[in-house]
Amino acid sequence: MFDVSKVRDDFPMLRSGKKMQGHPLVYLDNASTTFKPDCVIDAMNRYYQDETSNSHRGDYDLCFAADKHIEGARRTLASFLGAEENEIVFTSGATDGMNLVAYGYGLKFLKPGDEIVLSHAEHASTMLPWFRIAELTGAKVVFIPLKDKQITVEALSSVLSERTKIVSFAHVGNVLGYVAPIKEIAKLVHEHHALLVVDGAQSVPHMKIDVKDLDCDFLSFSGHKLCGPTGTGVLYGKYALLDAMDPFETGGGMNVKFFPDATATFLPPPMKFEAGTLNIAGIYGLEAAVNYLLSIGMENIEAHERDLKKYAVERLEKTGKVTLYNADAPTGIVTFNVDGVFAQDEATLLNSKGIACRSGQHCAKMLPEDLGTVATVRASFYLYTTREDIDALVDAIEQGGDFLDAYF
Ligand SMILES: Cc1ncc(COP(=O)(O)O)c(C=O)c1O
Repeated sequence: MFDVSKVRDDFPMLRSGKKMQGHPLVYLDNASTTFKPDCVIDAMNRYYQDETSNSHRGDYDLCFAADKHIEGARRTLASFLGAEENEIVFTSGATDGMNLVAYGYGLKFLKPGDEIVLSHAEHASTMLPWFRIAELTGAKVVFIPLKDKQITVEALSSVLSERTKIVSFAHVGNVLGYVAPIKEIAKLVHEHHALLVVDGAQSVPHMKIDVKDLDCDFLSFSGHKLCGPTGTGVLYGKYALLDAMDPFETGGGMNVKFFPDATATFLPPPMKFEAGTLNIAGIYGLEAAVNYLLSIGMENIEAHERDLKKYAVERLEKTGKVTLYNADAPTGIVTFNVDGVFAQDEATLLNSKGIACRSGQHCAKMLPEDLGTVATVRASFYLYTTREDIDALVDAIEQGGDFLDAYF
């Protein structure tokens, strides 16, 4: 295991004694975004202060250095995911990667009558690109029934058919934190000659991922949820699929040549999908973030969060005034309502005590109905979260009895 107090010292947002509403900041919104350690900020500053130049364009040493750094970052990300270098596409985040697959693959290959399988638990970044592609191609969106709020192989089997072409789920749900059995799902999806597109936004930051072992076809995630900069992300895709699909964006840096008859030839993947100037500083920071997490150990991070989750559930259950929606989900997300208090009111109360939690529908706008509610409060943990943070949350809930509003 690792020393959490030492880890906290690596983060300016945590060691600066920051306050919110006059109280020491307790940050429990890590599923939304995460704080950045010094090494990430330093890496980005290094690019801006010492190594600024464009990449993949110049004929002088500064450019070569940026090129070398970016290709090094690609190798780091490939090894982090168990992928090949040419299967790592730099994106601006999980949303960008999901859109790239939908428009680059779905728009090219889906036909009327084909089916795209989703679940009610999906984030807007998984749902909406496929809704749009269904509208554009005449394909149909089909939802699997959730079983005990979870995605199961059995539920998936009940909807798969020869019409299924795409199955897309989050590896870890951003509201409830259940882990989908991706490896088993991939096997079943492939038996039906369909593709599995995984939203890894909430899994890649928190557990060891091996895309070859999972055998997913695509996986997309954001850098800012794993201590990296905003505006960064990666789409992993099996090379043959990346090669077969169309670019989503075109422009400089992704073409070989273009001609007077208005045609163009493109570079092979991953460059084919990286039009325009890359977020170079962001990629420096993303690589630093991944190296930082690796230095702590993904297994250690996962174990720490699971331990915090158990502790939070125990403490919240003891209050006797909380409805928990995901007590049995193992990952570091706890989603609840305080009985009789509307979720946003509870989050406002928590804010008044310096505690940052998310409330509402968390961009998964079809799920609340399945949960029998309209909104929830979500506390989400990361490697720097402590039991004291959870104590502060529970104490605030216990003391907030008179902060009532009508629930519905
Ligand atoms: C499961 C899931 N998918 C996708 C996203 C979208 O991530 P981004 O906004 O960084 O593109 C999020 C962000 O909250 C998420 O939790």
